[in-house]
Amino acid sequence: MVTELVLDRVRVRFTLPGATVAAVDDVSLSLRPGECLALVGESGCGKTVLANALLGFLPGNAETAGTATLRGDGPELDLLTATDRELATTVRGRRIGLVPQSPASHLTPVRTARAQIEEAIRVHRSPHTADAVAARAGLSPEDIDRYPHQLSGGMAQRVANALALVGDPWLLVADEPTTGLDRHLVDSLIEEFRRMVTAGHAVLLITHDLAAAQRVADRVAVMYAGRVIEIGPARKVLETPLHPYSKGLGNALPDRAFTPIPGQPPLLTDLPAGCSFAPRCDRVAPICAERPALTDDEHAVACHRPC
Ligand SMILES: Nc1ncnc2c1ncn2[C@@H]1O[C@H](COP(=O)(O)OP(=O)(O)O)[C@@H](O)[C@H]1O
Ligand code: SF4
Ligand SMILES: [Mg+2]
Repeated sequence: MVTELVLDRVRVRFTLPGATVAAVDDVSLSLRPGECLALVGESGCGKTVLANALLGFLPGNAETAGTATLRGDGPELDLLTATDRELATTVRGRRIGLVPQSPASHLTPVRTARAQIEEAIRVHRSPHTADAVAARAGLSPEDIDRYPHQLSGGMAQRVANALALVGDPWLLVADEPTTGLDRHLVDSLIEEFRRMVTAGHAVLLITHDLAAAQRVADRVAVMYAGRVIEIGPARKVLETPLHPYSKGLGNALPDRAFTPIPGQPPLLTDLPAGCSFAPRCDRVAPICAERPALTDDEHAVACHRPC
């Protein structure tokens, strides 16, 4: 049976006193072994909420709709409606590994990194040694003998990356895994991701770092205000973007024009009825008062007047 993760119109909403936050809206995409999909977009567009939804890590005020079907390598299940027990025993760390954003806060403060990696090895009945897993994430045996408070931000990031690799999950969801890493470590992490993809794993790389996405991703999905507004082969999305927002993101890169997109993303509590990007868009036209749907193409875009 084919192994895949298929998201179909996934929504996540948070209820706050007097307001609803539409953090993820109608996201449809799929992932297969042997590919890396980068999910890019400015801070606050819903990337982490989407990752957490897939692993069942949403808070009590969240409500989901749509489906996220995990097939192959175990029983088929919808990650959005699976019980916490199903996710804990059959998904987390085994079929899907998560490198969480802000990894330092996910490490147990009173135990060394080695103890935490060894525990994960026991839980997942992994054939690897702690030193071998650590080495894959760029850590020496001495590094992992430290306690979390003795780790730099970059080292804590690498420990989180190592922990996610222990169970050899077919899918790795890595949420901003390059944060705090110097260039050399970013390079080795990207190499590790490419190795995993070549070995038949899938990587969902969540990042606001377009340069990292460019180096590792086969496909790129661009998210804006909770929606995927462009998705397709990495080269096409990054080099010949169709959506004015994707184009603006590229132009903001230091090695390009370095021109930030004017304005701010909309409040997710108060999204415009039409295209969410309209207030910042230099191509806006009357038709943009209607919300554009994502096309069905290999290189798909949600825009009435693509570039
Ligand atoms: N528990 C929550 N309650 C209400 N809003 C939340 C909650 N968690 C996240 N959000 C909101 O959801 C939006 C998306 O956040 P997030 O996924 O963290 O963005 P990103 O990872 O793309 O930077 C933000 O506006 C954030 O404030
Ligand atoms: S739909 Fe209209 S406002 Fe939205 S990005 Fe396209 S051109 Fe701009
Ligand atoms: Mg985030």
